[in-house]
Amino acid sequence: MIKYYNPANEASSNQPFDVNKDYGTPVSTSTETVSIEIDGVTLNVAEGTSVMRAAALADINIPKLCATDNIEAFGSCRLCAVQVEGMRGYPASCTTPVKEGMVVTTQNDDIAKLRRNIMELYISDHPLDCLTCSSNGDCELQDMAGAVGLREVRYGFDGDNHFDAKNDDSNPYFTFEPSKCITCSRCVRACEEVQGTFALTIEGRGFASKVSAGSSDQNFLSSDCVSCGACVQACPTATLTEKSVIEKGQPEHSIITTCAYCGVGCSFKAEMKGEEVIRMVPYKGGEANQGHSCVKGRFAFGYATHKDRITEPMIRDSIDEPWKKVSWDEAIEFSANKIKGIQAKYGRESVGGITSSRCTNEETYLVQKLIRAGFGNNNTDTCARVCHSPTGYGLKTTIGESAGTQTFESVMKSDLVMVIGANPTDAHPVFGSLLRKRLRQGAQLIVIDPREIDLLNTSHIQENHHLALRPGTNVAMINSIAHVIISEGLEDKAFIAQRTDEYKAWSEFILDDINSPEANESVTGIPAEKIRIAARAFANAKNASIYYGLGVTEHSQGSTMVMGIANLAMATGNIGREGVGINPLRGQNNVQGSCDMGSFPQELPGYQHVSDNALREKFEKHWGVTLDNEPGLRIPNMFDAAIEGTFKAMYVQGEDILQSDPNTQHVQAALGSLECLIVQDIFLNETSLYAHVFLPGSSFLEKDGTFTNAERRINRVRKVMKPLAEFADWEVTQKLSNALGYPMNYQHPSEIMDEIASLVPNFSRVNYQKLDEQGSIQWPCNNEFPDGTPIMHEKQFPIGNGRFAITPYLATEERANKRFPLLLTTGRILSQYNVGAQTRRTENQVWHDEDVLEIHPHDADDRGIKDGDWLGITSRAGDTVLRAKVSSRMQSGVVYTTFHHPLSGANVITTDNSDWATNCPEYKVTAIQVEKVTSPSLWQTRYKKFSQEQKAHFKNSSKKKPANRENLV
Ligand code: SF4
Ligand code: SF4
Ligand code: SF4
Ligand code: FES
Repeated sequence: MIKYYNPANEASSNQPFDVNKDYGTPVSTSTETVSIEIDGVTLNVAEGTSVMRAAALADINIPKLCATDNIEAFGSCRLCAVQVEGMRGYPASCTTPVKEGMVVTTQNDDIAKLRRNIMELYISDHPLDCLTCSSNGDCELQDMAGAVGLREVRYGFDGDNHFDAKNDDSNPYFTFEPSKCITCSRCVRACEEVQGTFALTIEGRGFASKVSAGSSDQNFLSSDCVSCGACVQACPTATLTEKSVIEKGQPEHSIITTCAYCGVGCSFKAEMKGEEVIRMVPYKGGEANQGHSCVKGRFAFGYATHKDRITEPMIRDSIDEPWKKVSWDEAIEFSANKIKGIQAKYGRESVGGITSSRCTNEETYLVQKLIRAGFGNNNTDTCARVCHSPTGYGLKTTIGESAGTQTFESVMKSDLVMVIGANPTDAHPVFGSLLRKRLRQGAQLIVIDPREIDLLNTSHIQENHHLALRPGTNVAMINSIAHVIISEGLEDKAFIAQRTDEYKAWSEFILDDINSPEANESVTGIPAEKIRIAARAFANAKNASIYYGLGVTEHSQGSTMVMGIANLAMATGNIGREGVGINPLRGQNNVQGSCDMGSFPQELPGYQHVSDNALREKFEKHWGVTLDNEPGLRIPNMFDAAIEGTFKAMYVQGEDILQSDPNTQHVQAALGSLECLIVQDIFLNETSLYAHVFLPGSSFLEKDGTFTNAERRINRVRKVMKPLAEFADWEVTQKLSNALGYPMNYQHPSEIMDEIASLVPNFSRVNYQKLDEQGSIQWPCNNEFPDGTPIMHEKQFPIGNGRFAITPYLATEERANKRFPLLLTTGRILSQYNVGAQTRRTENQVWHDEDVLEIHPHDADDRGIKDGDWLGITSRAGDTVLRAKVSSRMQSGVVYTTFHHPLSGANVITTDNSDWATNCPEYKVTAIQVEKVTSPSLWQTRYKKFSQEQKAHFKNSSKKKPANRENLV
């Protein structure tokens, strides 16, 4: 019997310490211990631990205000005063480190009097509106007044005070009420140490000192603040408070779950009142985020209950008709009949489906199972096709496992970090903050990216190298770096000899002059000496790690580049221990999981190839069906086949392929050719404009399951409210499967995970009980590694030795020319997520309500373009219109945009060029021309009209009288 997670049991779980307790100062990492006595209790603690933390470890809680355990002690409030034998006065326990033999007293009459006096001063300048204050019951000042026994304020409240200080409500999610500020500077330090943004300062001195966001004429919104919430979390008073708490009151209970946005996989406490989420508080016990968050996970959860949520199933025979709202049974029967009819008419292969990287592992597993066992073919694919499929191919080929090798925490042991084609502070913000912390500690940084990403502007960074290469030349760059390392004898000969194969052939290839930085100067646009300096720094670093993103994979040579990265890590011995490794930064919350769960047409769950008879038979036996031994269609093949007329029906769960896939007009033509498109989503997304069946989806708050983050960490997703549309996504897939005649009868997602564990070797010891006990598990989790595997490939690779791959650079066909002289590359920004379906329905819109085209001042000048001008953008695939943002973050000749808004049409311009091995689209290189225009593009005008017609079809949807349920499945 599974013991389901109960937050009340959290303190007694086997966490190393109580994650609900604030120990006052950070943990010491020293391995030396000292023995001390506190209030008569003798204890051994790590050297470097503060007296405050040591006392807290012995359950002796010293009052405190300016200290909290995720930032360094500051020693400003003095409330934590103690007496130490042999020391004069009353040292602050938060800033006093333990010493061997120290004898500490934390409570006596003198100390109590001193603390009361300090509290009295604070309280005399504090509006005593506790009973009506939003933080009543959740305020450390209130708690500490009680803890020190303050009963009266002798000075009265008539002296100088800050009661009239003006509130700052500019941030959409939290308020700043300075009249309640005790100037403890926890917010300032959290912004610096945890988030790494340095948006806040303490301005002025003494009584006049105050917290300031940016300069005096700025507020939170106009400052550098990125709304991560770390300051709100750190504030001990109601000065910085979530607006949701002010509006709805204090939460009453909490459930621990996982963020549904990016691949960092942050753990949160969903703090609730009944079934309503009041706030999401980053969970200190979450291994991926350790109590930190970004604006999306922390604040942008309102989409889950947005009025646009579709909660009733809908069907229609043609996209020219209004929708009909029907019962679940009727929608499922309609879908099943359509699929059966189409297969009877056009054949078994004429249907397929797409799994979601936003849904849980269990849901993804069920969709691919439905397709393979219920549809009877392997026409399953996933949105990872358009992002990290080259990671799968490239890593599997070279190191035998298609996943990142490290924990996020491992970066704290890196001496040099190479970031290629990734923008962690925007796309993986919590990891970005951790990385910045390491850079502030002195690690070197190499960024390989056409654009100047924010990471390069990290405060207090000591050394960085920006190789701002031309888009499409990654492979030339990585080969040149390897060329320098091998030709200068900087390789790790022992690692190469012991852990790798095929080095000789590779080294001969890489030493060819064609791969030298000098030969590649004209290709990459980077001076050879700059590459040589960076290559030497990489090879000479004790621990060098590589983090990469879609700027590596979304190219015609995406898979080649991933192999080039693996070559570099192996040649320098940077694999198999902390601080090193190859780390693909996965975009969506469950991209890793959707790949692990068998979403690709050629691989059953656990990357087990469909053509391997023994592996396939294992699944056949378990699933009770005969499986196809040929790989099915990939997404682009499905589109082509739909246009050709051989592919007729598609089931798409939680993925907006119309907005996210390249060459939108081609996708429109494909979707428009289908006889049945079944879309399952929480909103009527762009793809559903072409749908015949709409099955309402469930948000991450409405279901149980697991997500797997970019560190291979399987995290629990926990249901905090009932599904708005009655069923979780896995239940709907199960209904569809049953209606198609392939029975599924799971009662809970834990049963699906048990089935996964029985079929996927790397998951063989995973189950919900272990997840609840451990908090999370990094796969492989099997008999060899029963508690999971934080660092992979320590002794050997799954394929034995690593294999060097030959990676010749081949220029993409997509080149700037006279007609299309600029190269467009695309990416994300912090406040929006992917196609924006979620974040566009939150206050995050305040930071980015439209996609713009970033263009270098020279290119703008040449064309007479100014900030804010409308630009017509044309590629050989199509054209669109976006507003200009003149920015020197771009190199001349390269422009940049995001794709968060449907009408922007960023993917109308991107072409259907793709990676040679995996068909991952070449989003990062599109040759374009821009010119000033005054009206939207033809596509935008047509699409707007089509979209409005479809909205009218939704508005005019009728509620059908329920059919006789007995006739339904
Ligand atoms: S929300 Fe984050 S970035 Fe903004 S001021 Fe607070 S800590 Fe700094
Ligand atoms: S805003 Fe809060 S955390 Fe910041 S100084 Fe004031 S009381 Fe301290
Ligand atoms: S970093 Fe990613 S997982 Fe963490 S809160 Fe932000 S969006 Fe969510
Ligand atoms: S808590 Fe130690 S000085 Fe404030």
